[in-house]
Amino acid sequence: MTSDTDHLTVVTHPLVQHKLTLMREVETSTAKFRQLLREISQLLAYEVTRNLEMTSKTIETPLQSMEAPVLDGKKLALISILRAGNGLLDGILELVPAARVGFVGLYRDEETLQPVQYYFKVPESLEDRLVIAVDPMLATGNSSAAAIDLLKQAGATNIRFLCLLAAPEGVARMKEAHPDVPIVTASLDEKLNEKGYIVPGLGDAGDRMFGTK
Ligand code: URA
Repeated sequence: MTSDTDHLTVVTHPLVQHKLTLMREVETSTAKFRQLLREISQLLAYEVTRNLEMTSKTIETPLQSMEAPVLDGKKLALISILRAGNGLLDGILELVPAARVGFVGLYRDEETLQPVQYYFKVPESLEDRLVIAVDPMLATGNSSAAAIDLLKQAGATNIRFLCLLAAPEGVARMKEAHPDVPIVTASLDEKLNEKGYIVPGLGDAGDRMFGTK
């Protein structure tokens, strides 16, 4: 169940929406938040991998042979945008265990307010893979757009972006910078507040999943 524009897909499935509500609640513990994130990431992964290319191979069932569908092409690449991306990554990897994994680390320069790269390690042959970049919160979109810039510089041409929550500002920024990168999310929230938090949101996703507050 989704609500689509060509650039943004909001996964409206009841299980996703129910789990998201539990995650938003301020009383939800770190352990519960992490468990819900793992569950919801698998449901979102189902959506973001919906049109993977398929081929077929001949197999033998106990009864007869058949042409059966299998995924085509090189293993997909999951790219976690540190640090909160790791929370989405774990659940998706349970569903797509053979995926290759990369990491992009960016911090915000206090003076220029621009994202600066501090870590970048991605699988080889990105140009031949579907690349799914994951970060739970698409807020201003500045670091997400910068991460996608880096992935494109590394050769990626077929990229999707998966997040839990998106702010309209972040979606607009991504659409302007990377109109070729579809976004899948569980919710398009109302706006960013003056501190750059998504509202109503769920707070700092990294702090909530790692218990660092
Ligand atoms: N990052 C977060 O973790 N939360 C927000 O609301 C915005 C950015």
